[in-house]
Amino acid sequence: MVKIKVYGNQKIDGIVPISGAKNSALPLLAAAILSSNSLKLKNVPPLLDVSTMLDLLESLGATYQINQDSMYANTIELKADSIYNFTAPYEIVKKMRASILVLGPLLARFGKCKVSLPGGCAIGVRPIDLHLKGLEALGATIDLSDGYIRASAANGLKGSDFDFPTTTVTGTENVMLAATLAEGTTVLKNAALEPEIIDLANCLNKMGAKISGHGTSTIVIKGVTSLHEAEYSVMPDRIEAGTYAIAAGITRGRVDLIGGNFRKLLPSFIDKMEKAGLRFTDIENGLRVEYSGELSPISVNTEPFPGFPTDLQAQTMAMLCFVNGESNIYENIWENRFMHAAELMRMGANITVFQAHANIKGGKRLKGAPVMATDLRASISLVLAALAADGSTIIDRVYHLDRGYCCVKEKLANCGVTIDRIS
Ligand code: EPU
Repeated sequence: MVKIKVYGNQKIDGIVPISGAKNSALPLLAAAILSSNSLKLKNVPPLLDVSTMLDLLESLGATYQINQDSMYANTIELKADSIYNFTAPYEIVKKMRASILVLGPLLARFGKCKVSLPGGCAIGVRPIDLHLKGLEALGATIDLSDGYIRASAANGLKGSDFDFPTTTVTGTENVMLAATLAEGTTVLKNAALEPEIIDLANCLNKMGAKISGHGTSTIVIKGVTSLHEAEYSVMPDRIEAGTYAIAAGITRGRVDLIGGNFRKLLPSFIDKMEKAGLRFTDIENGLRVEYSGELSPISVNTEPFPGFPTDLQAQTMAMLCFVNGESNIYENIWENRFMHAAELMRMGANITVFQAHANIKGGKRLKGAPVMATDLRASISLVLAALAADGSTIIDRVYHLDRGYCCVKEKLANCGVTIDRIS
């Protein structure tokens, strides 16, 4: 099995082109199911999760063509004019929970589908009850048996009002995708505000949908009968950008993040990192992040957008291990997202975890050790910690990294940092 060897005491200094966002590309790919006409997506990151979604779409009967625009971006043209299979099997859904995003589109266009229940994962129980309740509000009949969701709407979905009791990103996406082809108007209240929701709505509107209010907590979707051909470019990955910003902090280096308005995409994260002492400067088409003197401890609360993103929590924890003083992290989205703490402790970190709270007594040197990646964001947090530690670190289960970070080795190499893949 491939592992990553990270050499310690390295400093990042260079330019990182930020790839298209994984968490935007996945719903955008699923959106192709809604139409028999082609959807051309640009700036799609070459990631394992994208390949898994393409495998799933292909198994349903969709076809696609990939054109490699650069090492970091593909254009993918999808056509779903011959869907013949309406089942998303356990074998694919267990690999990637975002497979659940085919539920809304299949149901809306074909009136039936069978999608495996995703089950829990390393970061929490991750229920999908709100996806199902939202679809039921649109008139779907849902039956859960043998580990599968069987959804049907023989006479099509009907627009309706639905108030999400808890905000959910993929839940909002799934119901919005479905409502696009429902008869009449749907009003989604307490909808998620994440930029990836806006990206999906913008793409659907380019395909002919009638969506407004995206980016606010009330999204209004006037159903249409069909969608047309469209071309759309995936937004930049704000979590990848934040991850490299932390790389500058943890290695006392500097990085130019290129390809987006990251201040707008990461408001709370940048605010917190500025409080910790990192310097952010606007540059053409991006943001420069620099270490400019000793960092201070901080307290972080993860929250839905525009709050501090849970997907940058593990990386932040890695950085705080190197910051003199006591920092605190409160994880408010996922009930079990501190698995990386135990691995950081294997490298010498002083972290105490109690339920949703992690206390980090930082400032001690960390030392390379064999560690294990437990999920995507945990895996990159270990890479970051290892870059700043003494000695070298071997990270196992790096397939987590390949799911969501494009060309890490190459992007780091462009900034003078070496990591190796070893067998
Ligand atoms: N929740 C429910 N019921 C539901 C759905 C969610 O109770 O039906 C709860 C969850 O248990 C959780 C909270 O609501 O406590 C928020 O979950 P959400 O549904 O927003 O998460 P998600 O849509 O499954 C997406 C990202 C995650 C990211 C979260 C939060 C994608 C494909 N995934 O997940 O990304 O952590 O939003 O921002 O967009 C990652 O990229 O590493 C990752 C895990």
